[in-house]
Amino acid sequence: MGTDMKITMIALGYVGLANAIVLAERGFQVVAYDKDAEKVDKLAKGEPSFEEKGLSEALKRNRKRITFTTDEKEAYEASPVVFVAVDTPSGADGAADLSHVEEAVACIKKYAKGDTFVVIRSTVPIGTNQALNEAASGTEQRIHFISNPEFMAEGRALMDERTPSRIVVGTNDREARDLLRKIYAKPIFAGAPYYEMDGASAELTKYASNLFLSLKISYINEVARLAEPLGADINAVALAMGADPRIGHSMLHAGVGFGGACLPKDGSAFVKTAHDQGLRLSLVEDTLTINQTQPFFFYQKIIKKMGPLSDKRIAVLGLAFKAGTSDVRHSAAEFFVKSLLADGATVSSFDPSSSASESFSKQISPSDKYLPSKTLQEALTGADALLILTEAPEFSSFDEAALCSLMKGRVIFDGRNLYPMRSFRFFDYISIGRPERKH
Ligand code: UGA
Repeated sequence: MGTDMKITMIALGYVGLANAIVLAERGFQVVAYDKDAEKVDKLAKGEPSFEEKGLSEALKRNRKRITFTTDEKEAYEASPVVFVAVDTPSGADGAADLSHVEEAVACIKKYAKGDTFVVIRSTVPIGTNQALNEAASGTEQRIHFISNPEFMAEGRALMDERTPSRIVVGTNDREARDLLRKIYAKPIFAGAPYYEMDGASAELTKYASNLFLSLKISYINEVARLAEPLGADINAVALAMGADPRIGHSMLHAGVGFGGACLPKDGSAFVKTAHDQGLRLSLVEDTLTINQTQPFFFYQKIIKKMGPLSDKRIAVLGLAFKAGTSDVRHSAAEFFVKSLLADGATVSSFDPSSSASESFSKQISPSDKYLPSKTLQEALTGADALLILTEAPEFSSFDEAALCSLMKGRVIFDGRNLYPMRSFRFFDYISIGRPERKH
């Protein structure tokens, strides 16, 4: 099959939309389905429903090769190659909730005409691929499920999909393997590492990778806790540690912990999978515990420094789970804003993404003490202290004179260690894994 091949993409969140665009860039015709009519209408007009670097431009460039639809029949009947990128949120017991995958599989069974190849890009529990293939094997329809986990991080999803660090394909079926090699011919030709394995190994690769990234973050956060009483500087330590290529610099920035829709959820699901096998993954469990307690450590510093909060106004900067995204799922801000409000503080908040601010406000019970701000200046005006929660460039280059003229107080809490220790002359600067710097 050449690049005139049609591919159906099911669900247009970060993974599905970025994947659909990159498939279109590689020359495929993509039929992109989502049941959310508002989202599909916007996409058809060239407007993504979330912020992601380069997405709008790439969408406009490739619109001729992507058909957006909410018509289930049109989507599933369009091609025998169906990519599934539905979300798999955490269920009540920590396991991944597979109901959206099940809905997609039911549609595939309903509409499949001949041989159908289903490429699962969603993060699904280990064993899903085998279970789906076993359930399909006794039927007349020849449906092949292939595990093809994604490794895209928000904020650089397109780049990660265009030039992947690796492509992992899990299937025991020869035809499916040949098909996937054709689909990925361009990145393979460009040198992307390409790994073929069985379905369970591919699924395990995804979880093991995300948990390894989480583990690095929790490790540096744990070392940061020790650095504080010792008077060491965790930024200096991490920089020197990361220079060893076996360790590496990435995911080694101490802060208020990891959030987002992936790392926390995948951690819980991984632990649950192990428990189901009668095993305890103690490193993984500790990684999650450190992450859950990390914001409390920092919050204690706020309480200690500020005293009673009822007459204080705190400017919280960064509401998304990290910079460069509008996604507020499992963001550190949720814990800090709710705790500050519960302790009586007035909270002004700002995020460079206006849609992050809007989504975040929905998570907070209406209160005249919560003041979402449209500009950074507005959030800072009259604040007794500011609290940085993401590494947005807007927060890493403050002009101290401007801060002095806007703010009432002289305290900066930096939950992402964005500044060298001696950056401020007129402010007390409190960060993570480093001694307090008094002005
Ligand atoms: C993560 C992985 O990085 C991707 O490889 C993976 O494909 C994706 O999950 C997924 O499973 O779909 P993402 O959730 O977009 O990507 O975000 P990350 O960049 O990994 O950041 C996660 C959290 O860790 C953020 O809250 C960030 O602020 C925090 N972080 C990151 C740190 O606290 N320290 C660091 O050094 C790096």
